[in-house]
Amino acid sequence: MFTLETARLLLRDLILKDAVPMHALRSDPVMTRYCAYIASDTLEEAKTWVRDTMVHNAMRPRLSYNLAIVSKEDGQVMGWIGIGQADDPTLGELSFGYALRSAYWGRGYMTEALTALLTFAYEELGAKSVQGECDAQNPASGRVMAKAGLRFVERRPEDDGRESDYYAATAEAWKTWHSTSRGEDAAV
Ligand SMILES: CC(C)(COP(=O)(O)OP(=O)(O)OC[C@H]1O[C@@H](n2cnc3c(N)ncnc32)[C@H](O)[C@@H]1OP(=O)(O)O)[C@@H](O)C(=O)NCCC(=O)NCCS
Repeated sequence: MFTLETARLLLRDLILKDAVPMHALRSDPVMTRYCAYIASDTLEEAKTWVRDTMVHNAMRPRLSYNLAIVSKEDGQVMGWIGIGQADDPTLGELSFGYALRSAYWGRGYMTEALTALLTFAYEELGAKSVQGECDAQNPASGRVMAKAGLRFVERRPEDDGRESDYYAATAEAWKTWHSTSRGEDAAV
């Protein structure tokens, strides 16, 4: 099983029994407010989603990493983070998404998880560039990306009338930031 470890977190491949905590995540209206693409109502839908992610994780060569965010302290599954090939690689060849159960917000967990995932993407996968996006009305997510070393690139209108903020970094820019300014936000 693929794993990444941080001070407080274990990031590991999703497994079928994660469907229960993923259902809690995906049916939490506070969580899905700015992240509708991961919303679902039923446990069956969560099971289907987990199974799909497991299929993608099992492909070889491996193109995507869909991981459970697990607390090392008590083993609770707190959320999901995933990275894979970008549909539109204009800003980054890889793109990622993430979501944390609202009970765990505000403790730096997602910044910790994203930093580990980006380190893996740039240093192990050899990604030349990585991008992420969030709803423009979701500043917490923008902060997470900036704190993990990505730079704000642009705000784009979406088909549904919303706007999205795009963040990205080349490997060179991220590694420079990581080695010289870690702990400070990437310049916006
Ligand atoms: C966005 C999300 C991942 C953040 O996770 P988290 O673990 O709480 O994030 P962190 O604690 O690492 O950092 C959050 C940062 O945002 C800041 N923040 C929180 N709410 C904010 C707001 N309304 N305005 C501005 N900044 C805000 C926090 O102060 C913190 O920054 P700081 O460390 O400089 O103080 C989490 O809220 C979530 O899962 N939301 C729903 C899903 C989602 O939006 N996913 C991303 C887009 S698909």
